[in-house]
Amino acid sequence: MNRQKIAEIPFIYDAIQFFFGKPIIDERLKTFIERSSLNSTSYVLDLGGGTGLNRHLIHQTNRYICLDLDLEKISTSLKRQEHNSSIMADACQIPLKNSSVDLVMLTAVTHHIPDTAIPALFSEILRVLTPDGQFLLFDPIVDSRNPLGRFFLKYDLGAFPRTVSDMDDFLLKHFTPIFHTTFRILHSYLLFVGTARKGSEE
Ligand SMILES: C[S@@+](CC[C@H](N)C(=O)[O-])C[C@H]1O[C@@H](n2cnc3c(N)ncnc32)[C@H](O)[C@@H]1O
Repeated sequence: MNRQKIAEIPFIYDAIQFFFGKPIIDERLKTFIERSSLNSTSYVLDLGGGTGLNRHLIHQTNRYICLDLDLEKISTSLKRQEHNSSIMADACQIPLKNSSVDLVMLTAVTHHIPDTAIPALFSEILRVLTPDGQFLLFDPIVDSRNPLGRFFLKYDLGAFPRTVSDMDDFLLKHFTPIFHTTFRILHSYLLFVGTARKGSEE
């Protein structure tokens, strides 16, 4: 079995997330989710949601949808908690209606997405977000001041790590930032929360 196959076994995958500081990261994500205007009728879409590790961060609504390409991870996500809808699909072709999602989460996913697919990904996020909906992105970034992070990114399954400046190129084009910060655990990370720029389209 190769490195990729081993790392994709759901319980090994979850253990890797904890090694890289998932509990600390969760505290940061929770702060923003609690400040958002989600209520019991809101829909949350966890794009590339993997095994549904973010599900426990959402208390305001049971309308949590985990979307991922990986069937095994989706199955783990479905077992993880009640009130969890999961869809096996491509984040660049979201099978949901226009303006139907109040919060789109994209955590640790963009470094798996090639540059050629980024426009389709963001066009889909903008299409499904409600006009007042929020977008939350969290991703490891290439940071020249963090050699350990660069070492881990070299062996990461995501083949498209980017600098903050690369990420800002597409984030600020489409979203008005509410929050934008970088921080370091083992990796360096970007955490971004924003709303769609009026008239933003690919
Ligand atoms: C590092 S994992 C992050 C999982 C989860 N978001 C988290 O924070 O724990 C990246 C996930 O993105 C998924 N993924 C990558 N490309 C995708 C695509 N085009 N559409 C849907 N999911 C995708 C992978 O299957 C994997 O589960």
